[in-house]
Amino acid sequence: MALVGPSIMSTTTCLQLEELPNKPSTFHRYIFSETHFQPSVPNTTHAKIDEHTSTPASSLEAKQRVLLLKAAREQYTLVDDHHVPSILHPGEVLVKVLAIGLNPIDWKGPAFNFGIPSLPWINGRDLAGLVLQVPNESSRLRVGDIVLVPSTDYRDIRKAAFQEYAIATDFNAARIPSSTSIHASASLGVAFVAAVLALGVSFGLDFSRLTQSPGPNLVNVVNQLNKNDIPVDIQDEVFATHDESDRPQRGDWLAIWGASTTTGLVALQLAKLAGLRVICVADIARHGAKLLESGADLLVDRHDTDRAVEIIRGVTGGKLRYAIDIVGKDTATILEKTLDPSGNAHLLGLTGLPKERNTGIKYHTVPIKLFHSAPAVGESMVTWLEDLLQSDTLALPEIVRADGGLEGINAALDVLRSGTVSGKRIVVDLGSKESQP
Ligand SMILES: NC(=O)c1ccc[n+]([C@@H]2O[C@H](COP(=O)([O-])OP(=O)(O)OC[C@H]3O[C@@H](n4cnc5c(N)ncnc54)[C@H](OP(=O)(O)O)[C@@H]3O)[C@@H](O)[C@H]2O)c1
Repeated sequence: MALVGPSIMSTTTCLQLEELPNKPSTFHRYIFSETHFQPSVPNTTHAKIDEHTSTPASSLEAKQRVLLLKAAREQYTLVDDHHVPSILHPGEVLVKVLAIGLNPIDWKGPAFNFGIPSLPWINGRDLAGLVLQVPNESSRLRVGDIVLVPSTDYRDIRKAAFQEYAIATDFNAARIPSSTSIHASASLGVAFVAAVLALGVSFGLDFSRLTQSPGPNLVNVVNQLNKNDIPVDIQDEVFATHDESDRPQRGDWLAIWGASTTTGLVALQLAKLAGLRVICVADIARHGAKLLESGADLLVDRHDTDRAVEIIRGVTGGKLRYAIDIVGKDTATILEKTLDPSGNAHLLGLTGLPKERNTGIKYHTVPIKLFHSAPAVGESMVTWLEDLLQSDTLALPEIVRADGGLEGINAALDVLRSGTVSGKRIVVDLGSKESQP
């Protein structure tokens, strides 16, 4: 018997969906009780949706609502006459956006005028949505799947999250298990990608040796790639040689400054799965309980920075080799002081690195583009993520749901910017309020 699922609303469209019960997969998958998917403007070509086939949706003339950034340092503007993005390349899927996870860059980009390829532009890096069109029968994805998509390819406007319909590649979309919240999943993607690439590629941590939900050995995956297929600006980071002795081993210490961030919490959980001992620097009064629950071995309060350095150096005997900063250049500079400067330590800065360099330390930035520029890397990460979610191995971020759809994003970003929603991710709902999980 079919269960009643979400009702998906847009200005002129209401699709009643039914979730398929007792299906071989344990992922959210929906069938359409109405046979037509109707984009939000009349007199356009309708894509017929079938559970088993993927009839091309001719979306060229269809219009949708999007949130446009018209100028730097301005709020986003809602428009209702933007083209529904078209599938242009093999492996692409069309997704109806159901929920958008907000990231700091969504307000920082416009406020400080970076990460905006041209104007007007559509932003938004994390979404969960319903797959409306798949590339072919052999795709891992099916029409009706609910997926989470980390949209790291922000230079491709078709893939942005702040719109009703978005394009994704199948190797960058992870199916959401039916027991997992769609909204919480919408908040996870970019943090997961950043944490996995930082640990697995920059530091060379081998996830294939995990006893529970093993993942990829990304150093091996990367070694199979053709260097010329990878963007030049990340080649050094991606193809740095990893001696076995240089890669983190079970029992090694890792320090994370900004461990209460979404990225920090994911990195902590993955590092613990791999057997590392993790030092978490954060506001301990606020976030200590959650960090302990997530496996932290040592909590260090972020407010007294001198004492934090002293504690970390004391506990690791001055031999710390791996550290990730997730806050900024200033805290990366403080964190650097905790590392063993004798030649084998690694410091990764997600939002900046110290100005002065110490010859005994290797400095890293996260090669985020690798996720969308190397299909083998993307595929290995999203299939692992599906497994981590299905087995409940990875805890999802705590979220605050913001209603109001695309119109509500400016206000939600003001809240994010104010810092009042500490330790939680804001997720904007684009479906009907009452029916979505
Ligand atoms: N380079 C990349 O590709 C990439 C990818 C992902 C993320 N990032 C960047 O990484 C950063 C974190 O992103 P996110 O989405 O994970 O963040 P988030 O979930 O929004 O994290 C915000 C948290 O940071 C904590 N925080 C603020 N200032 C701090 C400080 N001085 N020391 C320690 N913790 C502090 C706050 O905790 P309190 O409660 O203590 O204030 C707050 O809970 C952002 O700047 C983001 O742009 C970069």
